[in-house]
Amino acid sequence: MPSDLITHSEAETEALGAALGRLLQAGDALALVGDLGAGKTCLARGVAAGLGVREPVTSPTFILVAEYATARGFPLYHADCYRLEQAASEALSIGLDELLLDDGVAIVEWAERIEPLLPPDHLRITLTALDDSRRLTFEPQGARAAELVRRIFNGQCSIVNCQSSGDSASASDQSLPIDN
Ligand SMILES: Nc1ncnc2c1ncn2[C@@H]1O[C@H](COP(=O)(O)OP(=O)(O)O)[C@@H](O)[C@H]1O
Ligand SMILES: [Mg+2]
Repeated sequence: MPSDLITHSEAETEALGAALGRLLQAGDALALVGDLGAGKTCLARGVAAGLGVREPVTSPTFILVAEYATARGFPLYHADCYRLEQAASEALSIGLDELLLDDGVAIVEWAERIEPLLPPDHLRITLTALDDSRRLTFEPQGARAAELVRRIFNGQCSIVNCQSSGDSASASDQSLPIDN
């Protein structure tokens, strides 16, 4: 089963995030890994749109964690661990560990910095910059995350114009039906 996708623009990364967001349920957690500018916030913005968040989603680099109301009755927590110096202990002091176990959806940028605090079941997405394209590598940790990856790659969410890396098919061949 493929676990990589390539997006060719910011808009495509957001669209992929939105498709993923439509699949998410309360309790799901996304751990985003990748350098500055890799597209983590862009993906998070798409996920928020897919969950029906109406407010603009910006990078929570300085506030560390932002909470948004979704259209689905549970909150979205969007955290950014870049500026945490003693990442895990500072995250604990602001209660991030509890938010991650809360009945909402959590998205964590620089998630590798607080690895021990991540919920046992989470979807790790590593973003890698390739000029103006981005490779997104999906590594599910746990059964629920594996189910999400299956649904993404089995065409149960629309990933219009995204391409599996290593697959030379044209982008349009990868367009998948929308079911959600
Ligand atoms: N395929 C792509 N997907 C997402 N962002 C892209 C893509 N190509 C170029 N970019 C640019 O990369 C930057 C990503 O920024 P951002 O999402 O804030 O990254 P991060 O949160 O990982 O630091 C933006 O300036 C965006 O325009
Ligand atoms: Mg960011």
